Amino acid sequence: MAHRRGPSTERIILRAFEASDAEALFRLNSHPDVMRFTGEPPMTSVDAAREGIERYPDWERYGYGRWACVLRSEGEDAAPIGFCGLKFLEDHDEVDVGYRFLPQYWGRGLATEVATASIEFGFSTLGLTEIVAYVLPDNQGSIRVLSKLAMTRHSDVVEDGMAVQRWTVGPQAWAVRRSQG
Ligand SMILES: CC(C)(COP(=O)(O)OP(=O)(O)OC[C@H]1O[C@@H](n2cnc3c(N)ncnc32)[C@H](O)[C@@H]1OP(=O)(O)O)[C@@H](O)C(=O)NCCC(=O)NCCS
Repeated sequence: MAHRRGPSTERIILRAFEASDAEALFRLNSHPDVMRFTGEPPMTSVDAAREGIERYPDWERYGYGRWACVLRSEGEDAAPIGFCGLKFLEDHDEVDVGYRFLPQYWGRGLATEVATASIEFGFSTLGLTEIVAYVLPDNQGSIRVLSKLAMTRHSDVVEDGMAVQRWTVGPQAWAVRRSQG
């Protein structure tokens, strides 16, 4: 089953990106402040964004993937303001939680809100046994989000020539975190 719709949160609708979201995805993935600590090159055109959406293989291949984040107050057809969700990393044979928002939406707790829902989905719906996150050491905002998610800094690794922190959480630690509210 392809989970093209994500778990609902108080402020955000999580749904698959559609071709009509290409401009919004381009805006996000070409913004220098957004891309600064992602380790990815900025996207170069709306066409590249559209192609990325149309060729996104994860729904059919794994049944889950990164969802577009749309403000609930604007309705589900509104332009996405970010993305969040789970991604199977073939090279590592593990599942990663990721998040990204346009800068004007930073600092409102949105990344924590949608990442919490994504991790809960990973454990309770998908039955995963571990979720990881990779973060550059200078990305203090993201590191703070991982701490708020009760993830643990597991190790420091080198990815594509860059020093990266690997954070993890398992279902038991997650259950404890959830019971603490
Ligand atoms: C990382 C990112 C998703 C955080 O989104 P957000 O919605 O602002 O996150 P939240 O509001 O849930 O939490 C951010 C926390 O980090 C803190 N923070 C933000 N910038 C910080 C910084 N430079 N140093 C220390 N803490 C910082 C905030 O104060 C907040 O903590 P608090 O709730 O204790 O006050 C957002 O900055 C972003 O999109 N960055 C670009 C993409 C990216 O780097 N993604 C992650 C790749 S690993």
